[in-house]
Amino acid sequence: MSKIELLKSISDGANDSYFCRFNGKPAFVKYYLKNPLNTTVNFLKKVDSKIHEHFRDNVGPLSYRSQDMFHSHTDKEVFTYQLWEKEGILVPEIFEYDEEHIVLNLLNGDSVGSITKREFNLGILEQTIDMFDKTRKLGREKNDTVYFHSDPHLDNFMYLDDADCVIPIDSSLKVRSDMKIGRIDALINLYFAYNLLDRVSSYSSCEIKSVFDSYKSTLKSSDVKFLQKNSKPNRIYDIYSVLREEVAYRVRKRDKIDTCRIYGKQRSEELSDLLN
Ligand SMILES: Nc1ncnc2c1ncn2[C@@H]1O[C@H](COP(=O)(O)OP(=O)(O)OP(=O)(O)O)[C@@H](O)[C@H]1O
Ligand SMILES: [Mg+2]
Repeated sequence: MSKIELLKSISDGANDSYFCRFNGKPAFVKYYLKNPLNTTVNFLKKVDSKIHEHFRDNVGPLSYRSQDMFHSHTDKEVFTYQLWEKEGILVPEIFEYDEEHIVLNLLNGDSVGSITKREFNLGILEQTIDMFDKTRKLGREKNDTVYFHSDPHLDNFMYLDDADCVIPIDSSLKVRSDMKIGRIDALINLYFAYNLLDRVSSYSSCEIKSVFDSYKSTLKSSDVKFLQKNSKPNRIYDIYSVLREEVAYRVRKRDKIDTCRIYGKQRSEELSDLLN
C-alpha cells in the first residue's frame, strides 16, 4: 500500500497541498476540498438568492456542471496532463490519484506567480506566454477544449530550475460542454490577459510594455478585438475568483486575495491601452 508522509503545507492555491514523501520519494500531494463550490453556493443561497442565480447561470466556461465525462477534478487534471505529454509538453509525473487527491513528483522550482511577485523576469514571463499560447493552439487545432489550460493564472505555471523552462500545471477545472470552443478559448484568453496585467502592474511602464509586446505577438487580430471589446470579462471570472477566495477563507482558513480589483473599469481601460 502506498504511503504518504506530509512534510510542509503549501500556501499557494485554494486546495490543501503539501510537500510530502510518497513511498519514500520527494513528492507533492493535493487534497481537493470536498464540494467547495456546493459549500459556497449553499452559503450564497442563504445570503442572497440573486447572487446564487447569477452564479448558476453565468459562471461560464468554468461551470461545475459541465464536462461530465470527467468524474472528478483529478480525472480532468490527469487527462489534460496526458494529452499535453503526448504533444511533447513537459508535465509532472503522476504517482497516484483518486477523486479526492493527486500525488505528483516534486518539481524543483517555483510558481511563475511567486517568482514574478518577487522580481521582474521577462524571460520567465515570455516562456509562460509561449506555453499558454501553445495550449490554446493545440485546443483549436484538435477542436478539443481539454487541451486548453482551463485555469491559467500565473501560479498555475511552474518554472523548473534544472530544465530552465516553464510548464503548465493544475488544469483541473472542467469547462462547459454547451459553449462553442471559440468562445471558451476567447474567455480563457481574457482571463489570462487579466491575470498577466494584474501581475505586471507594479512594474515600470517600460517593463509592462515589454511583457505585453510579447503577449501581443501571440494574438490574432480577432483576439485583440475581443479583448478590447470585452472591457469586463462578462463577470464570469470575477465571480469565480471571488468564490474561490471565499472557499479558501471559509474552508481552508487562509487569507482572501482581493480579486475584485483585477476586474475594475480602470483595469479594463489599461488592458485596452496595452493592446493598441
Ligand atoms: N508537483 C509539484 N511540485 C512542487 N510544487 C508544486 C507542484 N504542483 C504544484 N505545486 C505548487 O503548489 C501550488 C498549488 O498547487 P495547485 O495549483 O495544483 O493547487 P490548487 O490549490 O488547486 O490551486 P488553484 O488555487 O489554482 O486551484 C502551485 O501553485 C505550485 O506553487
Ligand atoms: Mg493552482
